[in-house]
Amino acid sequence: MNAHPTFRIAAIPADGVGAEVVEATRTVLNEIARNAAEPFELSWEEFPWGSHYYEQHGRMMPEDGLDQLNGFDAIFFGAVGWPSVPDHVSLWGLRLAVCQGFDQWANIRPVRFLPGVRSPLRRADTADLDWVVIRENSEGEYAGLGGRNLGARGAGHEVAVQSALFTETGCERIIRFAFDMARERDHRKVTGVTKSNAQQYGMVLWDEVFQRVAADYPDVETELVLVDAMAARFVLHPESLSVVVASNLHADILSDLGSALVGSLGVAASANINVERRFPSMFEPVHGSAPDIAGQGIANPIGAFGSAALLLDHLGLPAAADSLRRAITAVTAAGVLTPDVGGQASTKEVTSALIEHL
Ligand code: NAI
Ligand code: MG
Repeated sequence: MNAHPTFRIAAIPADGVGAEVVEATRTVLNEIARNAAEPFELSWEEFPWGSHYYEQHGRMMPEDGLDQLNGFDAIFFGAVGWPSVPDHVSLWGLRLAVCQGFDQWANIRPVRFLPGVRSPLRRADTADLDWVVIRENSEGEYAGLGGRNLGARGAGHEVAVQSALFTETGCERIIRFAFDMARERDHRKVTGVTKSNAQQYGMVLWDEVFQRVAADYPDVETELVLVDAMAARFVLHPESLSVVVASNLHADILSDLGSALVGSLGVAASANINVERRFPSMFEPVHGSAPDIAGQGIANPIGAFGSAALLLDHLGLPAAADSLRRAITAVTAAGVLTPDVGGQASTKEVTSALIEHL
């Protein structure tokens, strides 16, 4: 007899360091499940998809890949990308295929400063800084609309068009999501980001929807900022931020800036959420497959661990998520760090240290 709740998790390690950090995360999550005050079980299934699969089959995942994943409680993803496959093929063939196929329209990317990890921000203390970037994850600049060779103007004169798609429904749901999240935070503020002075259609629609939604949340402070100014604000006045909501492209770039400010891409966490829970959501570190350090055993697993904490939140296990976050902080504060954040520890050493702190 087994009274513990069991959650089915699909693991897609994919390429490069993706596989290394997924392995570390599975070890950590299994340990948490075993030792939780209210124990639970994780039943893992691993899907060996990615660039190596592509080399053998000419595609990044099987044709019925989404059907195979549907029904899992969550997906834990490593990273895609390998020199043998063009980046747009690997990204669209697996990661974006899952995000879009499962309508994971909300991408949560916390910018969380960690003790012991040096930030390039010139502040004596970054410990009080933390904000979250909410990224529209289903349309915008990554809608895949456009074409090449339009009108065939001849060699050296190719024309390419890349369009962005903004729907009122798409804007409204992500902006509402951001406002709902702000209500859960100490600093109840939402900053909307666009480039509506230069892009006068989609981005103006976004701003209008933002203002309409904001009226429903009088208890939440709001502002609209242009994306270029926002990049500067991230660096110069990060204390003014709490929840930042932006389009697919803008939030992609801003969240990488956020992770660099925290100290490394390797510590940044991310969740791709199907808010309606009709399909599984996907949790993954922000970083890519890092071919430059793959196979050396030195990938920073902290971004993947932070993503695992978001996964535990999603499964309705907030106590387990908090214990994981506390252990992450304890490990970085103790100086057990991989080389990207100035230390000498291996992925395995960080993982073992974290398990001791659970
Ligand atoms: P990247 O994130 O893989 O690497 C950028 C830099 O950060 C490299 O110097 C790398 O060594 C370092 N880095 C990344 N993750 C790290 C970690 N966990 N620990 C320590 N250092 C880490 O980005 P890059 O180099 O632009 O792309 C490499 C491949 O990854 C490409 O094929 C790209 O398309 C793919 N990619 C995939 C993503 C995904 O699956 N979500 C996201 C970003 C890139
Ligand atoms: Mg990115």
